[in-house]
Amino acid sequence: MADPTEPLIRFAGVRKAFGPKVIYRRLDLDVFAGQTLVVMGGSGVGKSVLLKMLIRLLEADGGSIRYRGDEVTMMSERKLRELRRNIAMLFQGGALFDSLSVGDNVAYGLHEHYGKKLDRASNEERVAWALSLVDLPGIEDMRPAELSGGMKKRVALARAIALHPEVVLYDEPTTGLDPINATRVNHLINGLKRTLHVTSIVVTHDMSSAFAVGDRMAFVYQGEIIAVGDPESFRSPTDPRVADFIKGHAPEHEDVDTLLKA
Ligand SMILES: Nc1ncnc2c1ncn2[C@@H]1O[C@H](COP(=O)(O)OP(=O)(O)O)[C@@H](O)[C@H]1O
Ligand SMILES: [Mg+2]
Repeated sequence: MADPTEPLIRFAGVRKAFGPKVIYRRLDLDVFAGQTLVVMGGSGVGKSVLLKMLIRLLEADGGSIRYRGDEVTMMSERKLRELRRNIAMLFQGGALFDSLSVGDNVAYGLHEHYGKKLDRASNEERVAWALSLVDLPGIEDMRPAELSGGMKKRVALARAIALHPEVVLYDEPTTGLDPINATRVNHLINGLKRTLHVTSIVVTHDMSSAFAVGDRMAFVYQGEIIAVGDPESFRSPTDPRVADFIKGHAPEHEDVDTLLKA
């Protein structure tokens, strides 16, 4: 078990640029075990980059990223494979392979990480378990083309959780979904935390989702985290940059004041 007083994940002084374009001047952020951290910020500030650096889909230019105390930026290939099994990512768009059945899509990560180590029966069992967790039991034989956008999102989530990850990274999980499916995804995120004790980082600019799932929230602005704290502190933000963002991204079907006071 992780020491509950220590963060499970710690970004410290992380720098990242693409050519002349500085994304992070100094990224400091802690994620605690069993919690859902919501990361907010304008489009193009580097929210997806933050998630990708954690699993080394992108390399940080400097600073430290620790997972359970292990330095991610220095990990060997073997440790990195283990890291990617423990930290699953639900990509923006959550693309499924159209040519594969739902079951094979969900099993994809299992094949990748376990190869032939899992026999057919345990494979099928894991797939069935993951699909039932996202409330889509028994749809193994369907094709992605037959699914609605909301169902595709949930199948992508099933693919991520089939690996029994300790951490799930969600990149804009409710973007493009109608309010009903967005609410369903929020419930799933909370359900996985409750039942599997998953630690999560959720990147979103959907404010109702942010408040529905966040135990802690962080706001990225011009290369740094300029605000971090519990949801209460984000309901009445003192920093005008945070306040403007939250007011500007409240869903149209909800009254901003109700949302902020809820
Ligand atoms: N692989 C890459 N190569 C070059 N630039 C990138 C790459 N990935 C992201 N960027 C740039 O970094 C910035 C932050 O991207 P991103 O993290 O995707 O933003 P967002 O906060 O919207 O998720 C953007 O300007 C984007 O164009
Ligand atoms: Mg993004």
